[in-house]
Amino acid sequence: MGNNAPSGGREHWSGQLGFVLAAAGSAIGLGNIWKFPYITGENGGGAFVLIYLACILLIGLPVMLCEIILGRHTQKNPVGAFKALAPKSSLTAHLFSIMMLISGIALICFDAYGWGIIFLLTSFMIFKYGWVIPGIMSVFAGFIILSYYSVVGGWTITYFCSSISGSLSFQNSAEAAAFFDTLKVNPLTCSVFHIAFMVITCLIIYSGVRKGIERWSRILMPALFIILMALILRGITLPGALDGVDFFLRPDFSKIKPQSVLTALGHAFFTLSLGMGAIITYGSYVSKNENLFKASLSIVGLDTLAAIMAGLAIFPVAYAVKINPECGPGLVFQTLPLVFAKVPLGSFWCAVFFLLLFIAALTSAMSLLEVVVSFSMDELKWTRHFATIVCGGSITLLGCFSAVSVSNWKNIEWLHSMLVDIFNTSQSSFFDFMDNLGANWLLPLAGLFIALFTGWIWGTKKAVDEMRNGSQNFADVNFFSFLAGLKDDPGHNSRVHVLTLASLWGIFVRFIAPAAILIAFLHTAGWIKY
Ligand code: TRP
Repeated sequence: MGNNAPSGGREHWSGQLGFVLAAAGSAIGLGNIWKFPYITGENGGGAFVLIYLACILLIGLPVMLCEIILGRHTQKNPVGAFKALAPKSSLTAHLFSIMMLISGIALICFDAYGWGIIFLLTSFMIFKYGWVIPGIMSVFAGFIILSYYSVVGGWTITYFCSSISGSLSFQNSAEAAAFFDTLKVNPLTCSVFHIAFMVITCLIIYSGVRKGIERWSRILMPALFIILMALILRGITLPGALDGVDFFLRPDFSKIKPQSVLTALGHAFFTLSLGMGAIITYGSYVSKNENLFKASLSIVGLDTLAAIMAGLAIFPVAYAVKINPECGPGLVFQTLPLVFAKVPLGSFWCAVFFLLLFIAALTSAMSLLEVVVSFSMDELKWTRHFATIVCGGSITLLGCFSAVSVSNWKNIEWLHSMLVDIFNTSQSSFFDFMDNLGANWLLPLAGLFIALFTGWIWGTKKAVDEMRNGSQNFADVNFFSFLAGLKDDPGHNSRVHVLTLASLWGIFVRFIAPAAILIAFLHTAGWIKY
């Protein structure tokens, strides 16, 4: 966070680079290094990567622009931003609410009481709050996501401590797998380290040391990239590693499951920190002369690079040491310690790696908690300290359920039967339940609303006006002239714009992104097949 507070009083980033780095710090986290490889493994490799990349480009990038624009225009937190721009009464919101009401009644008639009641409640909320709902949903999503994110954050601490004490030097994949399996079924260790992770996150948010973090990320993020690069080079030179590269990069669409499309979409939102107001909040600290399009391209580019590098670091090793790429959330934790065993000073580098992973997780967790806390401060008028304690405390408590139920329901059977009764869940653990709810449903749904709101309610015209500050090229230069390098040619700068970047973006925000999100929902719910 820069210290050049403008006359308006709101703090601004130190510049384009400061904003890009801070947003990349929020975006690059466990999502890239832990989650992306394991869901790619579970969903069959290359084809999933392609769907994911398509989601990033076609949906993630346009929605990211929406969030930054909403933030910079209103200079407010997500709920405040929607409040400021939402019309007092909106026909679309009322229609939506009536649709939810009818679906809710239908669901109850079909005995799906849990979903029915949720639909009814949502319908009333939409009726009452209109277009402020996406803001409220984001806060709720932050709550859900942070609760299990911190369990994985806890594992990074466990692995860091174990690598220092030397207990991570495995001889083969069976030992590595056994170590992780013992960890994940041990409710006590999982909870203790989850709580430790949350306490550290809360301490940082409690004292609000944003400045320190911007400075930290500048050194630590590049360090993470360098270490990943070294891991890739060591990994792919292991015998048998190229099969892993093949798995990761060669698309085979027959391995795609019905759920895969929604998983890829949900992950695109998750990894870019979208659909939760984090980017709206960060965007509100951007000053008016920054080029938002360039900034969003850099953030998306860095985040995607990190994910691809993580995949290239992990799959070759998994194949070389014969670990099943479908082994789930333990993938990173079981494979990488084995590469370190094959480099000089391995346990030292192993400790460094898990430390960096912990810090990447921490910067992301902070952005999640900050959204919830800043909402409570602005809208409920709580003090920062009170908000951090109450929000942090309840998220920690909720997370304990995920910590004791990482891979099965054994420790909380009662909760399982309750969730099955109410929602008919099929998830294999509470951890999975929360992940599915937060990342696969809440984030894309909020993303859908953000796109619809910007495209149809607030209007692309006002949004593009906001973009003009700092990037005329985006709004006023013919896209083809721009591609041809002729944007400054007088003949190409006519007032009749055929196709500008802005018009492309507008079409994506109004039609393509919402349609794609809806199709992914319907596909996973089994209502359409292709
Ligand atoms: N993007 C982060 C990751 O990849 C997680 C994250 C941080 C996040 N803030 C968010 C996800 C806001 C959704 C919304 O690890």
